[in-house]
Amino acid sequence: MNSPAAGVSMTERLFAVVPAAGGGSRIGAAVPKQYLDLGGEPMLHRSVDALLAEPRIATIVVVLAPDDPRRPPAGRFDARVHWLPEGGATRAESVRAGLDALAAGDSDWVLVHDAARPGLSAKALARLIDTVRDDPVGGLLALPVADTLKLADSDDRVCSTLPREALWAAQTPQMFRAGVLRQALAGDLTGVTDEASGVERLGLAPRLVRGEPPNFKVTLADDLELARVLFSHGGN
Ligand code: C5P
Repeated sequence: MNSPAAGVSMTERLFAVVPAAGGGSRIGAAVPKQYLDLGGEPMLHRSVDALLAEPRIATIVVVLAPDDPRRPPAGRFDARVHWLPEGGATRAESVRAGLDALAAGDSDWVLVHDAARPGLSAKALARLIDTVRDDPVGGLLALPVADTLKLADSDDRVCSTLPREALWAAQTPQMFRAGVLRQALAGDLTGVTDEASGVERLGLAPRLVRGEPPNFKVTLADDLELARVLFSHGGN
């Protein structure tokens, strides 16, 4: 999986990994959430399409659960997309499997994007790539937290109000060099809920790049309704 990236002006190549091996049980559907319908297409296809809109991406590895028999119809995606049925027990393990399948050199860039974020726009993706490509560490799309934050006790009662000034909510894609990502995802992955948290464990400070509200993660039934409204209006 080592095709050259046509028309890329970056020295390093740019790859993408889409972890899509989760069960998505919190949404309460009969199929994993990445296969729920969004305007006539599975959510996963929408998320892959969002990456394919960026011509600088050479190869996209979609990581599926080992027992997942679903594949897109022949010809649905271009040859940049590869399906890897080697997902792990956690998101981080699935990403690690995708990374292992890429013939990426240490300095090549890898974008990791959740299958459950179908609302990524070409504009936000390009902003991430353009901002991070010269960064020594890498970075991620994220949004400054707008709501007032409450710390809850086990009875859902407020313990305190947290200062929100410096808080951002992480999104994907997250973009790091393959070498850094390999180190970040090596060994014990406890607490590594996104790539940036693994990179932070290495003592590095990823760059925050402003994302967009429609790039939310579809997690609960309400999120699915919102995503369906978005795609009934043509998506991004
Ligand atoms: O469950 P959650 O929404 O946090 O999952 C985020 C992404 O990670 C989803 O695209 C999901 O399919 C993927 N995932 C995975 N392997 C797992 C768990 C989650 O690829 N074991």
